Amino acid sequence: MTPVLLSARSAALLLTDWRAGTDAPAYEALSDALRVLVIDGRIPQGVRLPAERGLAVALGVSRTTVANAYSRLRSDGFVVSVRGSGSVVRLPAGLIGRPDPERLGGVVDDDLLDLRKAAMHAAPGIADAVERAARHLPAALAGIGYDTVGDPGLRAAIATRYTERGLPTDASQVIVTIGAQHAIALLARVLVRRGDAVLVESPTYPHAHEAFREAGGRLVGVPVDARTGWDATALETTLRRTAPAVAYVMPELHNPTGATMSRSTRELLLSVAASTGTTVIADETMGELRIEGEPSVPLAAASASVVMIGSADKVFWGGLRIGWIRAAPELLQRLLLARPTSDLGTPVLDQLVARELVPRTEAVLEARREYLRRGRDDVVGALRARLPEWDVPSPAGGLTTWVGLGRPVSSALVLAARSEGVVLASGGVFGPDGGFERFLRVPFTMPPADRVRLVDVLERSWARIGGDAAGVRGSLAAVV
Ligand SMILES: Cc1ncc(COP(=O)(O)O)c(C=O)c1O
Repeated sequence: MTPVLLSARSAALLLTDWRAGTDAPAYEALSDALRVLVIDGRIPQGVRLPAERGLAVALGVSRTTVANAYSRLRSDGFVVSVRGSGSVVRLPAGLIGRPDPERLGGVVDDDLLDLRKAAMHAAPGIADAVERAARHLPAALAGIGYDTVGDPGLRAAIATRYTERGLPTDASQVIVTIGAQHAIALLARVLVRRGDAVLVESPTYPHAHEAFREAGGRLVGVPVDARTGWDATALETTLRRTAPAVAYVMPELHNPTGATMSRSTRELLLSVAASTGTTVIADETMGELRIEGEPSVPLAAASASVVMIGSADKVFWGGLRIGWIRAAPELLQRLLLARPTSDLGTPVLDQLVARELVPRTEAVLEARREYLRRGRDDVVGALRARLPEWDVPSPAGGLTTWVGLGRPVSSALVLAARSEGVVLASGGVFGPDGGFERFLRVPFTMPPADRVRLVDVLERSWARIGGDAAGVRGSLAAVV
């Protein structure tokens, strides 16, 4: 089979910032950057790298630089030359970890602790909700079941929840989607035209930046830091300079940093977005998972044009696959017209269950808060004690801590942990334009025994890749 070709343009997009923070020769920096992309799966095994000349042009370097980088990857075992197919990516034999259950044909391994998705086991009460939902079945079964708008009872419950949180809402302002991911993809498809600028946070939720890029958006990033929050100056200048069609933000308990946007930054965002004609999308998928501090009123309370995304999946259970969009009825109408080419409605049975659960959000959050507080304090406390050279923030909520490793070795660390059955997403996955090799997203969602295992494995893996020894490149090369 002919290997899939990575175009020079796609490679250049993945390689933004490949020279940042290094004074190594260009060919070495390029081969290191490509190696990281292979290790964390952004360039999958079996893909054919672009021709040397094409990549050289796309990156603005000499062909010799690319040739030397490829040659280094070849001698390290990351690339093989296949007659007629050029340079094909592979992982060296020693680095191939356990099979990945997410790949077709992957073996499901009970011993694998997969933390690439930050989510909790189901909240108590789902089985009861299923039973109560069954009472509404006869009425539902009388309809044909294709429901792109959403169950009226569920839409009313979602509207009531917004109203309770300080954002008066009517059911006509809400449609139900197949999880928040579907909401993001649908909004991207309707609001973004090829070549439009789309403002995203950097780092951000990976499947959001993928969805906006897939819709043809040209992503522009604004820095968010776990401790200091949003860079307000960058936010303002980026908005004014690029006048993006959409600004996708997570103002409440941002994923992955856990930061919450200050009142002044919210005001700035809304006022500048109004002047640049930008539609602000506020994704609150993590937003209700507050462990401490006061929750903010949803962003749309300050501007009727803000589009809100929500989800039942983090609060109650990922298996529900129920999300929603709150927007002006005109936009909802456009979304509904666009929807049938990708899906013909949200499953009715799941909606009936969610309709029982959403009115119980406050009670469920109470229990979740306690669980998450313990998880956060255990994981953050243990990491701080055992890996004192790391910067481990204690977020006010959400499901993860965004750890600063101090060195650009996230992919190597993830790979080492993986060989012991603990699978994490490396920092780079969260960068809309690369970077973040100095960070690792560590969830604290797992039961106590798995927390112990996670920290043990991270400590051992850190030691294996060189621990706190000096020498950035040396330690990366030691593993890969
Ligand atoms: C910020 C954000 N938005 C959307 C999603 C997708 O949520 P859902 O499971 O409801 O599709 C996630 C999942 O982690 C998320 O973190």
